[in-house]
Amino acid sequence: MSSSFFFLPFLFLLTVSSAAIPPPTTTATPLIQQACKVTNFSQQCESTLSQFKFPPNPTSLQLLQAALAASSSKLATALTMIKSILDASAGSKNRTLAATICLEVLENSNYRISLVNSSLPSGKTKDARAWLSAALSYTYDCWYALKNINDTKQVGETMLLVDSISILNSNALSMAFNYDAFGNNIASWKLPKTERDGFWERPGTGGGGRSGAITGIPDKSKADVTVCKGGGSGCLKTIQEAVNKARDNGGNGKKFVIYIKEGVYEETVRVPLDKRDLVFLGDGIGKTVITGSASVGQPGVSTYTSATVEGAME
Ligand SMILES: *[C@@H]1O[C@H](CO)[C@@H](O)[C@H](O)[C@H]1NC(C)=O
Ligand SMILES: *[C@@H]1O[C@H](CO)[C@@H](O)[C@H](O)[C@H]1NC(C)=O
Ligand SMILES: *[C@@H]1O[C@H](CO)[C@@H](O)[C@H](O)[C@H]1NC(C)=O
Ligand SMILES: *[C@@H]1O[C@H](CO)[C@@H](O)[C@H](O)[C@H]1NC(C)=O
Repeated sequence: MSSSFFFLPFLFLLTVSSAAIPPPTTTATPLIQQACKVTNFSQQCESTLSQFKFPPNPTSLQLLQAALAASSSKLATALTMIKSILDASAGSKNRTLAATICLEVLENSNYRISLVNSSLPSGKTKDARAWLSAALSYTYDCWYALKNINDTKQVGETMLLVDSISILNSNALSMAFNYDAFGNNIASWKLPKTERDGFWERPGTGGGGRSGAITGIPDKSKADVTVCKGGGSGCLKTIQEAVNKARDNGGNGKKFVIYIKEGVYEETVRVPLDKRDLVFLGDGIGKTVITGSASVGQPGVSTYTSATVEGAME
């Protein structure tokens, strides 16, 4: 596994393994096939959605909510499995820690998915995308935590399930991106070139609404707070201090943008669940690096910090 460093969720989005799930044979309707074309795991997407009963001409919202329901139901199973790993881990610090981390991040994932599901019908599609992206990072984090204790059949099976949840969340995210950009017009849905392309509307389109623009990232110069190595001259010393400054319960969906300047930050960043609208911007992969290793001193645990750091890096 790629060490105790991480470069915020982007790296994780790029490095997740594809699951060892056999390609299912399904007869997905043309509409489902069309919607699934935009996902990274289109066969799993088709087989997942084909298990649902839809009205004759389902809307994209109905498809998306079905994708979320599938994820939510597997998450419930995974949570049960991880609880029993935890129960069986008394006496091993490593196992207890890994299972605890995994449990916490998957609960977060589940929470985000329910937020996505409830915010979509009211048109909060940008929030939905951000939350879904977080839900996806959380499942990767659980997977990485379990990888350190993969020495029983129980853990191996749980990892397979968590992997399949990552796939469902990834697919749902791609669909949510398209739903945000193109709405119900599934014929115009397309595969985002990169996560970043998919994530932000072009600056200056005013936010809200469906602009159809699929590029652009938040502007560093308009960051709410800046973090730099050593602090000073208007910037904070730690990412945690910046997170602590963010509003609780968000501000009408307005993002709180934290710009983290180039440097290696040795800290474990904890983002409470009620701080919902955080965006992390860095100076680029390999330039802004967060390592949590100093905080816990156990291999693998550093990835936990990625669970709590969500948003976009440029
Ligand atoms: C999603 O929301 C719909 C209502 O819009 C509700 O019927 C459904 O149970 C919810 N599903 C999940 C997984 O929360
Ligand atoms: C977990 O361990 C099992 C048994 O050693 C192995 O087959 C599997 O590939 C491992 N999974 C991962 C994701 O490392
Ligand atoms: C889909 O795969 C591409 C290429 O690996 C990756 O950049 C992107 O983040 C993935 N999207 C999702 C939603 O997982
Ligand atoms: C627990 O983690 C420590 C520190 O990383 C490692 O040296 C040790 O081998 C692990 N113990 C078990 C039982 O896996």
